[in-house]
Amino acid sequence: MNRIGLFLLAAAAVHAASVSNVTFNKQVLPVLQKNCQGCHRPGEAAPMSFLTYKETRPYAKAIKAAVAAKKMPPWFADSAHGKWANDRSLTAAEINTLVAWADSGAAEGNPKDAPKPLAFVDGWNIGKPDAEFEMQSDFTVPASGTIDYTYFVVPTNWNEDKWIQMAEVRPGNRSLVHHVIAYIRAPGSKWLADAEPGKAFVPRKGERRGEGSGEWLTAFAPGSMPERLEAGQGRLVKAGSDIVFQMHYTANGKEGKDRSKVGVVFAKQTPTMRVMTVASQNGKFQIPAGDANYQVDSTMTVTKDATLISFAPHMHLRGKDFEYRAVYPTGETQILLRVPAYSFSWQLTYLPEKPIVLPKGTKIECTAHFDNSANNKYNPDPAKVVRWGDQSWDEMMIGFFSVTVPVNPAQPRTDD
Ligand code: HEC
Repeated sequence: MNRIGLFLLAAAAVHAASVSNVTFNKQVLPVLQKNCQGCHRPGEAAPMSFLTYKETRPYAKAIKAAVAAKKMPPWFADSAHGKWANDRSLTAAEINTLVAWADSGAAEGNPKDAPKPLAFVDGWNIGKPDAEFEMQSDFTVPASGTIDYTYFVVPTNWNEDKWIQMAEVRPGNRSLVHHVIAYIRAPGSKWLADAEPGKAFVPRKGERRGEGSGEWLTAFAPGSMPERLEAGQGRLVKAGSDIVFQMHYTANGKEGKDRSKVGVVFAKQTPTMRVMTVASQNGKFQIPAGDANYQVDSTMTVTKDATLISFAPHMHLRGKDFEYRAVYPTGETQILLRVPAYSFSWQLTYLPEKPIVLPKGTKIECTAHFDNSANNKYNPDPAKVVRWGDQSWDEMMIGFFSVTVPVNPAQPRTDD
């Protein structure tokens, strides 16, 4: 054997030795705390908890498979463009640790080596909310059929303006709630004017329902995490506003009830930056039947100096990839986010590590591709021409993003 071969052998032996020392308490738990427990704990998105050794041990092999294939944690940003404050993807060393643990018998190790358990407030990721808004009645989801987007209007009864720093939706019944968007409806708004507070409401066809009608507060969808704004930032809820729940329910074969709620935490001091969610979107497309790579573009011009703090691309089951670009007034173009393999199962928000300055006149361009072919295993019907629509078997092309704009005390209405 030549020297290189010997060297490799020696390295392998060293590796094997360190592998057998991996224990749950010492090396595995810190990784789970940092990257997995946000979802893998009771009451959250994942079906099993990874808080304790006893709970985690049965999944050692599944964990190895999921992390080696990069299926877990869900994370889809192309690392070639942008750095992300909420990047949950594992480093090679973290993957090796989990794989080595599974391969070496998934030992528990010494409890003294374990990091302190993370403190979770039961039921909320934002800590105890300052105010909670709950649908006033249960909604009964039938066993089968299509359920139109259903709206619930919950008055805040606030008689002063409030600044929100954190907001979270808690779905009442995760097996029936596909998504929730909580909007702020300003007093005097005509949007959903026929909706009676406390009663489920389904707008007539053609009535303006979503974006542009209310202001985005927060949302829930698989994989989503509640928003935590920095000190000095806030979403403004004017006195007398209502919270509007847009509920997308999906029947799952068994009738069931849901009553979802939203919690908010107020900003500790009056923010200097107001946060608003806007979108670069295109609702006028027709994806031909069978087309495996249909492109849809959108563009949106930023009408005042703003700073971009998050992205949330949204398509449905035929969504394939999504890209955001900034075209600056100088003419320079920059790719801000690329999601090369979009997954409808995971509605993720991407928070840039450094906020992106958008001078007035910057265009946010988005490009999406859709796979309407039979090769897309999620495609509900490759024989159909597909247009914009609410339901998962229709499509959407929305590049949501959130910006901050300075709060000008002399001109408090920054929303026009
Ligand atoms: C954003 C939420 C989220 C995070 C973060 C997350 N998981 Fe999951 N995980 C889920 C959900 C939901 C499921 C069940 C649905 C599914 O399998 O897609 C799941 C399923 C799994 C499974 C079952 C097998 C499989 O591949 O479907 C394993 C194993 C797993 N996760 C491991 C991990 C590990 C290890 C981490 C951290 C390194 C992690 N997950 C982080 C939400 C999450």
